[in-house]
Amino acid sequence: MTKPTPFKVGEAYDSFADLLDQLWGANLHHGFWSGDPDESFDDATTRLTDKLTALLAAKPGDRLLDIGCGNGEPAIRLATAHGISGVGISIAPGQIDRANERAAAAGLADRLSFQVADAMDMPFPDESFDLVWALESLHHMPDRWHVVREAARVLRPGGRLALGDFFLRSVDGRPADASSCELVSMGALKLVELDEYQDQLRAAGLEPDGVEDVSDGTRPSWGKAAERFEAAREAAEHHIGPEQFQTTLRRFRQFSDEPSVGYVLLTARKPA
Ligand SMILES: C[S@@+](CC[C@H](N)C(=O)[O-])C[C@H]1O[C@@H](n2cnc3c(N)ncnc32)[C@H](O)[C@@H]1O
Repeated sequence: MTKPTPFKVGEAYDSFADLLDQLWGANLHHGFWSGDPDESFDDATTRLTDKLTALLAAKPGDRLLDIGCGNGEPAIRLATAHGISGVGISIAPGQIDRANERAAAAGLADRLSFQVADAMDMPFPDESFDLVWALESLHHMPDRWHVVREAARVLRPGGRLALGDFFLRSVDGRPADASSCELVSMGALKLVELDEYQDQLRAAGLEPDGVEDVSDGTRPSWGKAAERFEAAREAAEHHIGPEQFQTTLRRFRQFSDEPSVGYVLLTARKPA
C-alpha cells in the first residue's frame, strides 16, 4: 500500500464525515489529555489547538493560512481569540462547505474563508501570509517537504509557521522503529525523526525556533478513539463494512501501543 492520492484522501474524509463527527467531533485532530478521567474529547482536542496557538504567537491583524483546515474549527478559534484574518484549505469539498457555514455562524465570514485546494499546489502568491499553520494534516501529503517549501514560499519574511504532526520517536534509548504499525510498515504513513524534521525546515529556508514533544499527552487519543469507534460499531460497519471496521480498530490499537509513533508541535520563522 502506498500513500493515497490527495483526491482519494478528500473523498474519504467527505464520505466518512458523519462517522468522524461521532468519533472525533468538530476538531479532527488528537487531544492533549490532562489526566482528568471526566475530560471530554472536545476539551482535549481544543487543548491541543490552544497549545499550538500559544506557540504561534499570533497578533491582531495577522493573516493566516491553515493547511488542511478540516471543519474549520481550529482556524475559527484562532481568529476569534486573536483577531486575525485568513484562509483555510482542504482537499475535501464537504469540509469546506461546513467550515464556511461555521465561520458565517461565528460572525467571521468577513475575515475568514475556506476553499478547496491541494496543499501540494497552493494557489497563493509568494509572501502573502504572516502565519501558516498545519495541524495534523502533513502526514497525508504525498510529499511533506514539498508542502513545507510551499508554506515557506507563501510566508512573508518574518512570518511564522506552526505544525502539529506525527514523528518517529526513540524511546528509552532504543532506536525508533514504528514498523509494528501496519500503516507505517506499508508505507502509507511516513514518519521521520525530529532531527530530520528540523533539517527539512532549514532546507526550506526556515529557522526552527520551537519544538515540543507532546506524545505523552496525545497518546490516550488512540485508545479513546478506539472506545468511541467500538461504541459506534453499527454505524461504522454500515459505512465501511465489518472487515474494514476490524482493520481500523486494530490500527487504532497498534498506534496506542507503539511509543515510537510520537506527536510533535513545531514552530519556525522565515528570516526577515
Ligand atoms: C486530520 S485532519 C485535520 C483537520 C484540521 N487541521 C483539524 O485539526 O481539525 C487532516 C486534514 O488535512 C486535509 N488534507 C489532506 N490532504 C490534503 C491536501 N493534499 N491538500 C489540502 N488538504 C489536505 C484533509 O482534508 C483534512 O482536512
